Amino acid sequence: MATLDLFSSEPATPDPTPEYVQLQALRAQLHYHAHQYYVLDMPTVPDAEYDRLFRELQALEAAHPEWVTPDSPTQRVGGKPLDAFATVRHVVPMLSIRTETDTESTGAEAFDARVRKELELTETDALVEYVAELKFDGLAMSLRYEQGVLVQAATRGDGEYGEDVTQNIRTIGQIPLKLPEGVPAVLEVRGEVYMRRDDFEAMNEKQREKGEKTFVNPRNAAAGAVRQLDPGIAAQRPLSFFAYGLGEVTPAEQGGPAFATHYAMLQTLKSWGFPVAAQVDTAQGAPELIAYHQRIGAARDQLPYDIDGVVYKVNSLALQRQLGFVTREPRWAVAHKYPAQEQITKVLGIDVQVGRTGKLTPVARLDPVFVGGTTVSNATLHNLFELRRKRARVGDNVIVRRAGDVIPEVVGVVAATRPTYVPNFRMPRTCPICSSAVVREKTEMNHRCSGGLFCPAQRKQAILHYAQRRAVEVEGLGEKLVEQLVDTQVIRTLPDLYKLGLTALAALDRMAEKSAQNIVDALEKSKQTTLPRFLFGLGIRHVGEATAKELVRHFGTLDAIMDASEEALTGVSDVGPIVAKSLHTFFAQAHNREVVEQLRACGVTWVEGEAAAQAPKPLAGKTFVLTGTFPTLSRDQAKDLLEAAGAKVAGSVSKKTNYVVAGAEAGSKLDKAQELGVPVLDEEAMLALLQAQPE
Ligand code: IVH
Repeated sequence: MATLDLFSSEPATPDPTPEYVQLQALRAQLHYHAHQYYVLDMPTVPDAEYDRLFRELQALEAAHPEWVTPDSPTQRVGGKPLDAFATVRHVVPMLSIRTETDTESTGAEAFDARVRKELELTETDALVEYVAELKFDGLAMSLRYEQGVLVQAATRGDGEYGEDVTQNIRTIGQIPLKLPEGVPAVLEVRGEVYMRRDDFEAMNEKQREKGEKTFVNPRNAAAGAVRQLDPGIAAQRPLSFFAYGLGEVTPAEQGGPAFATHYAMLQTLKSWGFPVAAQVDTAQGAPELIAYHQRIGAARDQLPYDIDGVVYKVNSLALQRQLGFVTREPRWAVAHKYPAQEQITKVLGIDVQVGRTGKLTPVARLDPVFVGGTTVSNATLHNLFELRRKRARVGDNVIVRRAGDVIPEVVGVVAATRPTYVPNFRMPRTCPICSSAVVREKTEMNHRCSGGLFCPAQRKQAILHYAQRRAVEVEGLGEKLVEQLVDTQVIRTLPDLYKLGLTALAALDRMAEKSAQNIVDALEKSKQTTLPRFLFGLGIRHVGEATAKELVRHFGTLDAIMDASEEALTGVSDVGPIVAKSLHTFFAQAHNREVVEQLRACGVTWVEGEAAAQAPKPLAGKTFVLTGTFPTLSRDQAKDLLEAAGAKVAGSVSKKTNYVVAGAEAGSKLDKAQELGVPVLDEEAMLALLQAQPE
């Protein structure tokens, strides 16, 4: 008898020793923290603590290999490369769905009309209730759990036979290896494996730096990773997962679940630890489906992953059964597409742009094309080597991709369609902007202008980088304005920004006094910032937002970062030798230190804790909702301050909200707070709350 032998995959231990009990406890904690981190995006322990628990478990398992089970958190990576994938038969076939590409309203209306006809409903009958979901652009996956343990992951294949890709799927942190007690004995969860756009971009950027082939789009990258025979390689490809349905499940008569609706089923999957998209919603009849299609269409660019449409499903499972299938498609579901994110067009010319770090980027001038919801007439070719690998030349028909706010890019040439001989593109030897020499280090893929801040293009980009929303944020300081300011030499360096007066601004072309005043105000507002934003805003090569945050977490103050040795810098998670060198070189240069000093002298400031690394989180566990416009802080600034103090900033008000911070023109969130009796603060009271907390 073994009381702990709950699952068949657990080896029987006749006498659970304290060590074995400890091992079980560690696994339970690691499963919990992994779910908080990967699925809910709300880590409850620092990474270091997770690593400590993980290593403790590894040590216990190393001492007792007989206790290793496939659902142990240590088993996500480590399988051996395969020669081929085994074939899996889907007991419940993996179907596809009919697609509507029609205009906004007709797709939903046609579907609703078909459903009503099939169900023999008349005009006087009630509206049909649907569930509307996102149509993720990845690949379908069936996850099989037996006694709550992941035993198999299979691709869709032809719908009836797929491939066993379990080893690779185990490496996806969002996919639970073990489910809570009480789940059905057999449970197949179906959903989509996909790659987030930022993960995709970062992965391609790494490929480009190494001069290696890049992936065309997140879907291809995800599909390639899933079908990788070496799970070690698959583990390095950042994949994610969303659940949207079920396959084979223990029937209700045998103790399985008896869901009444698709929506209830999804909520249950969520409670069992599966990621379910927050946008899932019920909809009454065609009008609410149309509204959903419009709402998601407008928000599509802001999603962190690609979708190619939305999916409508009849909510009642009884009605789903009644509707049944036609050939291989259910009558109860339909996909409603959005404009494609890839299109074919012609290259009219290839220009060269100079970026913030002096990088020269070949950019294809295109025959304008409607892609991903907007008209695109320029697309990046990244660098000379990538351009050559793709064999892109003027006159070619190319595939252009635009997804979200990612810069449109040429992903490939359709076929060499150029009419006559066209010479190969060459990088200019001198900068097209400032005529300084163009250089390229041997180990580098990028050509650069050697002009530094002498080059107006680099100066403009440096200012725009500093002023962008994610950095120090100077509202209204856009490309056109910076162009004028630099071209007329009103501004030469970053600190010059803060010396801009109303008169100088109002003297510019097409600048009304009101707009000039807005810029002055925005500059004033930008002075109160955070250290990660400031550090990111300096535009140091290889120091992105995430790295800036890590640096601040580690060192606490700007002085500590500026004075850190390369060795000390590599002690920061995420900082490798290249980033460390770049930071060290940047701060070793007197003129860069001077820029920092001048900016501070102009009044740019942030809350700096000597030991921000260990700083207590006085507002930990508190949830805030922000609404309206604040007198001095931007929304993002307020959010940063609250988050730095450990608070969570949510998008909507509920009973769980601790405070609503309301500014001018606060809307329905304020009403909701008053209705629920949630305390409402103004900006001043919020700042006081932040100050009042013990350091
Ligand atoms: S439901 C019986 N829901 O779209 C219905 N599919 O042709 C089974 N997909 O390859 C599919 N998002 O991988 C469903 N929310 C969603 C989806 C979704 C993406 C994919 C799925 C399949 C294709 C359907």
